[in-house]
Amino acid sequence: MMTATKVKERSLLGIKELDGSEIHQLLERTAYWDQQSEKLTPVLRSHFVANMFFENSTRTRFSFEMAEKRLGVQVLNFTAAASSVEKGESIYDTVRTLESMGIDAGVVRLKPSGVLQQLAEKVGIPLINAGDGNNEHPTQALLDLYTMRQHFGELKGLKVSIIGDILHSRVARSNLWALTKLGASVQFCAPANMQAPELAAFAPYVSMEEALKADVVMMLRVQLERHASGIILSAEEYRRDYGLTEERAARLNPASIIMHPAPVNRNVEIDDAVVESSQSRIFPQMANGVPVRMAVMERALQ
Ligand code: CP
Repeated sequence: MMTATKVKERSLLGIKELDGSEIHQLLERTAYWDQQSEKLTPVLRSHFVANMFFENSTRTRFSFEMAEKRLGVQVLNFTAAASSVEKGESIYDTVRTLESMGIDAGVVRLKPSGVLQQLAEKVGIPLINAGDGNNEHPTQALLDLYTMRQHFGELKGLKVSIIGDILHSRVARSNLWALTKLGASVQFCAPANMQAPELAAFAPYVSMEEALKADVVMMLRVQLERHASGIILSAEEYRRDYGLTEERAARLNPASIIMHPAPVNRNVEIDDAVVESSQSRIFPQMANGVPVRMAVMERALQ
């Protein structure tokens, strides 16, 4: 049985709890796994991991599974809709059930914020946050950092604009904590009803014109599922005021890059033609999700 300290060290609940050197270490191991030409390196073949998604996912879920399989991990995939959660079983009882069957770690995505921390205090295995409410999405931030590092060489001194639905975004929060720990500066741009006032002390809100001058222009998905009805502008108004339209993209610094965690609402927060333009790193971000999650699994299990 692992000690509580060891479980804590191997868990990844948020970027907020990591220091700069731990983030650097994870990025170095990401680079290592990214450089391997062999698809299969089964160094973790005696370990069992459950991917427990209580909220839908495509990129995070499949890149965790890809990462685990590349490392030889024995993978159990859990989806809430096909489980006893449908009969009313709690998240805690679900995780404890899989723990009692012998899993060595759990990857967890949850709709609410804050529940994962409580869960982690009650179980004896490392948990990895695959996105919890609007709190954190640490592996997304790590893959974003790695994508920026691939392009710019280093992160220190970079200016990053995060544009869009900051209020509902765990991606914005994890990137804010990660980038500022590594010496980059972050600024936000959002309509008034999508701003998170508690984050203003850490990153200023700027105009769209100012945001477009940054080294990295990170667009966020408008999280329609988290908006109370009537809170947002129409899709056309949003695109007009806050979208990365073809016209705005043409005015970016040619050395800058465009990012988006996806899924993308094409022609709302970003124009169709911009998604796969030469400055866009949206698909490389998805590719980088695999080596990042290999590094995170290695840290959890070795
Ligand atoms: N970026 C991201 O978390 O995508 P999924 O919701 O598809 O995992």
